Order: sequence, then C-alpha cells, then structure tokens
Amino acid sequence: MDYLKIEGGETLKGSITISGAKNAALPIIAATILSDKGVTLTNLPNVIDIKTLIKLLDILGAKVKYGEKSCIINNGTINSTKAVYEIVSQMRASILVLGPLLARFKECEVSLPGGCAIGQRPIDLHLKALEAMGAKIEIKGGYVKAEAPNGLVGTKIIFDKITVGGTENIIMAASLAKGTTTIINAAKEPEIIQLCEIIRDAGVKIDGIGTSELTIEGTDGKPLKFNEIEIIPDRIEAGTYLCAGAITNSTITLHKVNAEHLRASMNKLEEMGCSFDIDGDSITIKPVKNLNSVNIVTTEYPGFPTDMQAQFMALSIITEGESLIEERLFENRFMHVSELNRLGANIWLKGNIAAVHKVEELYGADVMATDLRASSALILAALVANGTTNVHRIYHLDRGYEDLEGKLLSLGAKIQRCKA
Ligand code: EPZ
Repeated sequence: MDYLKIEGGETLKGSITISGAKNAALPIIAATILSDKGVTLTNLPNVIDIKTLIKLLDILGAKVKYGEKSCIINNGTINSTKAVYEIVSQMRASILVLGPLLARFKECEVSLPGGCAIGQRPIDLHLKALEAMGAKIEIKGGYVKAEAPNGLVGTKIIFDKITVGGTENIIMAASLAKGTTTIINAAKEPEIIQLCEIIRDAGVKIDGIGTSELTIEGTDGKPLKFNEIEIIPDRIEAGTYLCAGAITNSTITLHKVNAEHLRASMNKLEEMGCSFDIDGDSITIKPVKNLNSVNIVTTEYPGFPTDMQAQFMALSIITEGESLIEERLFENRFMHVSELNRLGANIWLKGNIAAVHKVEELYGADVMATDLRASSALILAALVANGTTNVHRIYHLDRGYEDLEGKLLSLGAKIQRCKA
C-alpha cells in the first residue's frame, strides 16, 4: 500500500489553488437524480469519494461523461433504484441517494452505510423525516427499503439534532414532493446553501436559504432542469493548508477560496497570532514564530468545524502552554491522538476533551492514518518533525484531498508518495 514519506523542517512558500468542495459535490451529484436531463458539473475535486458516488449512479443506469474536473450526468436512463452494499460500504455519503431516488421513483433500496472510524453515524433522523413525508420505511438484510407509491407529501420536519446529511436528504426529497415542506433546525453549512441554490435555480421555490428554517415548495413529482453547476471551493482543504502555513511558520497564498466560509478557522488562527491578507478569492497567511495556545469546541456551522479539529490539534502541539480541544459532534474523533503522540506530542484525553501540552521537538516516525482528517493532521505534524515520517494507510487521505502531496511539493515541502 502507498505511504507518504515526509522530511520535516522545511519552510513553505508560494501559492496553490484550492479544489472544489467534496462535501458540496457529493449532495449535488445525488441531487442530479432529481432530473431526467443531462447536468453539467464543473470544478469537481479529483478525489476517490466523488468517483465512488458517480460509480453508484452509473450502476443505477445513469449516463456519465467525464471531462477534466467536470462531468455531465444524465439520470434520464436510470433503470435501478438499489444502491448496493458494495458501493455504499465504501462511502457512507452514498446514503444521500435515498431522498432523491425515493422522491423521483417512489421506491428504492439503499444499503445501510454502517459506521466509520469517527463514530456510529446513524441515519435515524433521515428515516424519521422521510416517514413524516409519507414514506414507508423497512430495515431488512442491511438495507433501507423505502416506498411512497403516491409520492412524498410536504410537511413540517423538526430535526432533534442538526444533521448535514439529514438536511440534504430532506431538501432533495422535498423538492419533488407534493406541497410545502418546512425544515426546522436545518444545518446551514455553505455546502447546504449551494445545494439549495442549485435546486432553487432548477425551478423549486425555497425560502430561508442559509438559515436553520427552510421552506420548500415541491414540484409534485415533476423532474427538475438544472443549470450548469460550479462546485464551491473546499473550505476544509483551504483550512488545512492555512494550518500548514501556520505550523511551518511560512507565508503562503491560497487561490480560489471563499474567506467567508473560513471565518471560524481563520478566527482561531488569529487568536494564535497569525494574520491574513485577503484579496478577492485569495488568502495569504502571515504566521508568527511563537503561536499562542487556544481552546476549541467543535460545533455546527458557522461555529468551529469538526472537520478542522484534527488539523488544529496538530498545530496546537507547538503552541505555548496548554490547549483544550472539545469534540462535540462525533463520539470517536480522536483517533489521531495516539498517532500524534508517536511523533512526540504530549496530548491527554479525558472523555471528549483533549489537552494538548506544548513540546519543543517532534521526531519523525512511522504513523498510521485512521480517517480522512486525521491523515492530514499527521502530515501537518510531520512537516515540523525532525527527520523522516512515513504516513501509512493514505487511502483515507485520497478520499478527500486532491493531490495533497503535489500541492505541498509545489510549496517546498519534502514529501513523496512511496510504494510499500
Ligand atoms: C457531514 O457528515 C460531513 N460529510 C462530515 O465530513 C462532517 O464531519 C459532518 O457533516 C459534520 O459537519 C459530508 O458532508 C459528506 P451529520 P454527516 O449528519 O452528514 C449525528 C469529512 O471529513 N446523527 O451532520 O454524516 C451523527 O452521528 C466528513 O469530510 C444522528 O444521530 O454528519 C453525528 O454525531 C467527516 N442521526 C452528528 O449527528 C442521524 O440521522 C452530525 O452528523 C444523522 C446524524
């Protein structure tokens, strides 16, 4: 299996271009099921998860034409509504086809996604909401069997917890439902906003976009006609590279980013002592030699993103004093702690709080990625460790970061992909 070999100690310089957001592209690819015409998507990130979801649509009978970072998906030819275990087990976001398949075809079978390294990640809220819209849901043989022979009916949905995927599934289901759906306690990440915008531009009346209360007038089963869609920049990829600049005390510039989507992460970096120049869709980070420690609590957008928790933990290893990091969204998102401690970090766990104490030096070692964002945290720490670090199981990384080693190489890091 591939691994990344990193020689620490290099200062970075120059600029890179941020890719399209994986977590915006996934629901949008699922939303194309709501149309029976070809839909053109551009600025797609070249990452495994995107290929996996497109492969699922292909298996369902869609016609897909690929371009460089773009594709045209035509779901007019879908002839199956069974999302099989072999694909869904590779990528849990495949559950996002549940809402659109049910709304368009009135029945579907989608394999239960199962948990993953960071937590059990149930879909009870998705299913409860679809039942409220008139779906008959049965869990059998590891599959969700859903039926709505007379179509879904709009209703009021109140989510007990804020769920990104649950909100996305119901937005898509409500788009073809009969009547009005109101979603209360909706997630409002930028990726949700883009999903609402492209569905609104395809002819569905949606109010409250960007707020926690969405009102959607369904088309009563009439398929949508989407305009060409350009995927928004990846705010988590961008935040990861800002941390790379901060941890190596380097001035680097990111192009094609939306600073508005990065406010919580940039605010924390400013608390640590960093500063920024923002020029249109470019951000330059200007770090400071001695970073201050900060306390972090992960929460839903626009709060501090859980997807940046591991990266900031890596950064906190070299900040003055003690940093406390509380993970509130997932029950097991500290798998990177033991691997960071193998590099010489001094991190202690008590329940869902990690205490990170400053260490003067990190030392290269063999470490193992356990999930997507943990992988990037290990790479950040390796950039400042003395000597060589080998990061194994980087198939996790390849799911969500486009050409990370190429981008870091272009910034002057000593990093290469090796074959074990
Ligand atoms: C999305 O996952 C993202 N994935 C995750 O990014 C991100 O960490 C997460 O939102 C939170 O921001 C994609 O967008 C593809 P949730 P999702 O439903 O939708 C609980 C990455 O690194 N919950 O908002 O699965 C759940 O267990 C990935 O790119 C229920 O209890 O997250 C969790 O504790 C990792 N029942 C919390 O809600 C449900 O029915 C938030 O989950 C649904 C969720």
